[in-house]
Amino acid sequence: MFRRVLLAASGSDRVRQLVVATPPTRRVVDRFVAGERPGDALDVARRLAGDGIAATVDRLGEGGADLASARESTAAYLGLLDLAEDAGLSGGLDVSVKLSALGRLVPDGGRKICYENAAEICARAAAVGATVTIDAEEHASVEAAHEVLADLRRDHPATGAVVQAYLRRGVDDCRRLAVAGSRVRLCKGAYRAPRDVAWTRRAEVDAAYARCLGVLMAGAGYPMVATHDPRLLALAARLAQEYGRPAGSFEYQLLHGVRPHEQLRLASLGAQVRVYLPYGPDWYPYLLRRMAERPANLALFVRALRSR
Ligand code: FDA
Repeated sequence: MFRRVLLAASGSDRVRQLVVATPPTRRVVDRFVAGERPGDALDVARRLAGDGIAATVDRLGEGGADLASARESTAAYLGLLDLAEDAGLSGGLDVSVKLSALGRLVPDGGRKICYENAAEICARAAAVGATVTIDAEEHASVEAAHEVLADLRRDHPATGAVVQAYLRRGVDDCRRLAVAGSRVRLCKGAYRAPRDVAWTRRAEVDAAYARCLGVLMAGAGYPMVATHDPRLLALAARLAQEYGRPAGSFEYQLLHGVRPHEQLRLASLGAQVRVYLPYGPDWYPYLLRRMAERPANLALFVRALRSR
């Protein structure tokens, strides 16, 4: 119920205006968002690199249905990659992109527009030694995202996919994607989805995640285990051992601001760890999804309001 209300609010302009105008919001935002400018994200990426942790940088912004915002978003990613190269940080860097930010929702030709924009980002990433991962969004967009990804992989085979384990189709997606050279991020799923397409109870989602993880770890691809759930992290380590996967043949991915001690602990064990680093002024839907994941985050926000 709590999760449903917050995910609904993430799409509401009225709630957005209220939250964005509330000064203490900043403190909560700062926990999950690296900053407003690309340089802020790269500063955090540099600090993480010092701890042996890699980054995937996400320029916040989604759902724009006009050509101009799709171009602006594409240009921002290209600028970010150039900046990363100048700073000596582009080798091994990943950028996470949402096709909705690259024009998927533009009427007439949105699919082609987002493909062309994503392909331009993939080409620039490859030129500076970085990779791209296509984030997963609402369930209704997943099929189109997989089609665009397949097109991108023809020229840029390292382009990463994201599978949301809460979708009933997730395990089939994992079977299809668990092939040599394929980078696949497995997450639980952060959007609203109806019961006919998604598992909606926590235990069902966790069980689905475990099934998907088994398929990816047994397969020939490069699994990217995106969760903070201690039981699933332990399962990933067990499966890696069972399938004889060395440390560099899969990675753990965690969100900036969530379980930072666990990020350091995993890295100290010699595991490959990557942190998802969002930056940019358009943080509202991202923040609401983080709150929906954990009631304590909302309490943090309410406490900030009271201490005004
Ligand atoms: P779960 O929600 O059960 O949390 C397990 C524990 O982790 C909690 O008990 C708590 O300790 C901690 N925790 C989790 N979330 C927290 C939060 N917000 N604040 C504080 N503590 C928290 N989703 C999607 O739909 N499309 C995508 O492309 C991506 N991409 C992505 C990349 C990466 C690197 C990660 C880690 C996650 C995503 N997600 C995503 C989000 C994902 O689907 C999911 O919503 C969150 O990771 C929370 O689920 P957990 O697996 O962490 O489990």
